Amino acid sequence: MEEELKKKIIDELGTKGLVNTEKWDVPSNVIHGCILSLSSRDVVEYEKVEKSVVELTQEGREVAHDGSQEHAFFRKIPAEGMLISECEPFRVGRAFAFKKNWVKKDGDKIFRAQDNVSDDVCAMLQNLKSIGENDVDMLKKRNLVVVKKMQYYLIREGSKFGTEDKHLTTEVTAQMVLEDKQVDLKPFNFHTDGLVLPCGGLHPLAKLRDDLKIIFLGLGFMEMSTSNYIDAAFWNFDALFLSQHHPARDPEDTFYLESDVLPDLPEKYFKDVQKIHEDGGFGSTGYKSAWKPGEAKKLMLRTHTTSESARQLYKMAQQPFCPAKLFSIDRVFRNESVDATHLAEFHQIEGLIVDKNLKLSHLMGILEEFYRKLGLGKIKFKPAYNPYTEPSMEVFAYHEGLRRWMEVGNSGIFRPEMLRTMGFDEDVSVIAWGLSLERPAMIRYKLNNIRDLLGHKVDIEFVKRCGINAFDEKTAFSS
Ligand code: PHE
Repeated sequence: MEEELKKKIIDELGTKGLVNTEKWDVPSNVIHGCILSLSSRDVVEYEKVEKSVVELTQEGREVAHDGSQEHAFFRKIPAEGMLISECEPFRVGRAFAFKKNWVKKDGDKIFRAQDNVSDDVCAMLQNLKSIGENDVDMLKKRNLVVVKKMQYYLIREGSKFGTEDKHLTTEVTAQMVLEDKQVDLKPFNFHTDGLVLPCGGLHPLAKLRDDLKIIFLGLGFMEMSTSNYIDAAFWNFDALFLSQHHPARDPEDTFYLESDVLPDLPEKYFKDVQKIHEDGGFGSTGYKSAWKPGEAKKLMLRTHTTSESARQLYKMAQQPFCPAKLFSIDRVFRNESVDATHLAEFHQIEGLIVDKNLKLSHLMGILEEFYRKLGLGKIKFKPAYNPYTEPSMEVFAYHEGLRRWMEVGNSGIFRPEMLRTMGFDEDVSVIAWGLSLERPAMIRYKLNNIRDLLGHKVDIEFVKRCGINAFDEKTAFSS
């Protein structure tokens, strides 16, 4: 089809000097494809012309053929008038006939107000070409016409017109090979984009999660299991030495479950956690206030994946020491008021390293490496407070596109109250950090509203587009 069309264009140009595609019964994208290919080789030049055309709707076609509703109504009214109650089937026609003063009311009857009327609407529809803008608007309102935008092309000879072989072969068939036929092959154009395939796409968060997994695995990390969306407050808070009076535990911040099910918690460790909270130990004074086992046994939707890190670390502390680098990326839940940058559920990325004598410099080093690989090359640390890490640092990254520093994570060295209680020796330290998956995703896909990324308002076309573009870690965050 395309080759035939190109031939037609070239032949017509040869005879007429100008080709106008306005009347062609070929989809405009097909014509465009042909002239794009011809103009890329300077065989033709073209200009696109856009114009609006007025077309009859189905109803418009009926009126053009049978006359307008008001005319039909006018014709129906006998000399002695029509009872108002009988007019009901002609509601539309009656309204327009009154508007045009074709009919009048007298008592309970409607009479013709003129002897003869001409059906202007019908005449307009039969001769759409000669009507003015106001009439088009009126007919549009009556759903008798639609205005469609159409485009066509004016094609002229290009600088290489006539000098090129007009019929280059684009495909070599078996037949050609068998016949040993000499053909002029069309050179490949490696610079055009391929067709966008009508297929689904990975959700941007899933894509980013996969990219992050590759970064973590490349740095030698192993993935933790994070299947406990529902967890005991014990793992989410108490094991992390988070005081039972901490505001994060309030139901205003955390979703608790109404359940009588008691979580299965390691007995001795449970007691040890109670002791460190109430009386302290390992050089700490503890919180010096009563610790309620019932609070720790409450079931809740985890507020961070650090609950899983705590469970994993406890397990490791029961084994002979072995250094480890672990990560997780999964969903967490907080009782937040939902706005452009907050949702009640989101994803957290978490990384931790267990080894002997790890210091803040190790943490800063790994964070620099991690964020650089993520495409956030310029980072800054700010001292912060976190109940389960000491020291703690917030991480800020410079967003080249927005030209400002943005908070992209929270980090620190887990407290001895947490690690020693689990059973780790004094010289074992754990450096860790966490951030939301949505934050870098919003930066990467230039979104201002988190609800464009997660939830029922996500645009499926956006998801498809994100699925098509490959991840380029150097440029992903820079523009
Ligand atoms: N759990 C922290 C948060 O929810 C992140 C974090 C993880 C901080 C590990 C320090 C260490 O923001």
